[in-house]
Amino acid sequence: MRVLVTGAEGQLGHDLLDAFSGRVPAAGSVEYAGRFLTTGHEVKGCDLADFSLTDSAATMEFISDFRPEIIVHGAAYTAVDKAESEPEVAMAVNRDGTANVIAAARVVGAKVLAVSTDYVFDGTATTPYLPSDATNPLSVYGVTKLAGEQSCGDESTIVRTSWVAGFHGNNIVKTILRLAMAGTPMTFVDDQFGCPTLSADLAVALVGLAERTPGGIVHATNFGPTTWFALARRVVASAGLDPQLVTPVATADRLPAPPASRPMYSVLDGAALQAVGVGPLPRWEEALDRLVHLLVAESTDVS
Ligand SMILES: NC(=O)c1ccc[n+]([C@@H]2O[C@H](COP(=O)([O-])OP(=O)(O)OC[C@H]3O[C@@H](n4cnc5c(N)ncnc54)[C@H](OP(=O)(O)O)[C@@H]3O)[C@@H](O)[C@H]2O)c1
Repeated sequence: MRVLVTGAEGQLGHDLLDAFSGRVPAAGSVEYAGRFLTTGHEVKGCDLADFSLTDSAATMEFISDFRPEIIVHGAAYTAVDKAESEPEVAMAVNRDGTANVIAAARVVGAKVLAVSTDYVFDGTATTPYLPSDATNPLSVYGVTKLAGEQSCGDESTIVRTSWVAGFHGNNIVKTILRLAMAGTPMTFVDDQFGCPTLSADLAVALVGLAERTPGGIVHATNFGPTTWFALARRVVASAGLDPQLVTPVATADRLPAPPASRPMYSVLDGAALQAVGVGPLPRWEEALDRLVHLLVAESTDVS
């Protein structure tokens, strides 16, 4: 397949290029990746340095030139808190940029896998969210990503994920490691529940989905729910450092509160992913251990 990855410089984008080209993702397990990575695909990446997806003509030109059969649309405005103060910028990228990708995909006949988020939900559920459950985003970021979903047509598969971390780019796992290595105490909320996702594992799942293009909405995360507090302790323990550096705090007691509200419960149900033969993804603890061991081994890359 000819595959275009948008957001190729992002943390997921890097792993997508590796997964689609048949290289085992940097932070992925050979055993898990081997389930999907039979042969490599022809893959090309694009990111903001090439052109902005908010430019409909540039998007159309780039996609018409490459003529992909599959577009994995990972590019997004992802600064959740900053989006509260610049909603137009976030909307331009997440809604209009997605609409531009979809329009160009129609012209070349490409199918689209559009990556979306658990932040489309308000977190009032008490059981894992199904793809068909009602959305009600709490943040500007969530509103703009939902608007992006609504730009997608029948040729698209929307892949919602959550709490993504990977080897490339900046993420919370790298921040936790850096602080723990310096012996700095930290607090994390213990009343927000979700599913951590290793970007390399998600990339492998997206290869599987690209080969099936089921349409509709699927949820793809590593397996099992947890809290940010438990995730942080796991990262520290996995690095062989003192987990007592991490203490719990209730969301209501976290001062100052971050600008964007997050759902208190955004566990995504992965049954639809399993139903199409992709998944379940590995448990979150095992995925996180793989990432931490890789980052510790390359600790000069931890920033
Ligand atoms: N990270 C998470 O926890 C999480 C959770 C749920 C869902 N997701 C979704 O998963 C996908 C991948 O996330 P990620 O963490 O890999 O994000 P990321 O690291 O921020 O990567 C996104 C990439 O998109 C690029 N981009 C931004 N605006 C663009 C534009 N106008 N035109 C072209 N490219 C543009 C960014 O470039 P710049 O860096 O230069 O802006 C960046 O390289 C996104 O769709 C995100 O919404 C992420």
